[in-house]
Amino acid sequence: MTDSKKIYLLANWKMYLDLAESVALATALRAQKLSPEIVMTVFPSALALSGVVNEFSDSDIAVGAQNTYFVDKGGLTGEISAAMFAAAGCQYALVGHSERRHLFGESNHLARQKIEAILATNLVPVLCVGETKEQRDSGEAAEVLEAQIRSAFTDLTCGQGRQFIVAYEPVWAVGTGAACDPFEAERMAGLIETWGRLLLGENSEVFVVYGGSVRPDNVAAYLKEPHVSGVLVGAASSRLDTWLEIVQSALTSV
Ligand code: PGA
Repeated sequence: MTDSKKIYLLANWKMYLDLAESVALATALRAQKLSPEIVMTVFPSALALSGVVNEFSDSDIAVGAQNTYFVDKGGLTGEISAAMFAAAGCQYALVGHSERRHLFGESNHLARQKIEAILATNLVPVLCVGETKEQRDSGEAAEVLEAQIRSAFTDLTCGQGRQFIVAYEPVWAVGTGAACDPFEAERMAGLIETWGRLLLGENSEVFVVYGGSVRPDNVAAYLKEPHVSGVLVGAASSRLDTWLEIVQSALTSV
């Protein structure tokens, strides 16, 4: 863990749950006792957002946006801006998730535009970075991550003194069941933290989390790594039983 000892438990519900299912899961989570070190954030679908925000209004669980657009308002059919998510009660925003990059063709340039718009609000950006299997096999993993981080953070003057979360999510580990070796995740997290601090300055906070096939039986191995400050979980966060096991594992590791 980093000095502040926070553990981020980030639940990316993707497109797994509809409105009723999301509100039901939020209602069940609201009853959970967390410790002050745990920062839990749920990323519901945009349709379920206000229902989930409402459920968590008296709890310490935060809500985040899965995807944002970088223009505040305008003729942009189907898009929702960072400013609108902030106004709807979100505190965090994912940027550059591997599914956005690889299924919807989002570039490093677009991720940068989104980060700037997110920082214009009070949302905390959660930048997702990660290499493909081919890039890893050809020894380019660190290079790819560095390019993604540099593109997002170089000369980011609006980021001074802000909090940033970077999720190391190797593309080959997301939704595949093939989780990254915790020692390798730690090595990458260390590199990401170094680049992040260098580019964002000492007065910004940079936390690195790991994501990609995190489950109840492997989460503890990531949380004990010194540069890994939490986990970003997809499938296992969208079910009450597996998510509660992950939360329990985090509570015993603080
Ligand atoms: P997964 O997804 O836990 O289902 O692999 C992780 C993510 O996409 O953030």
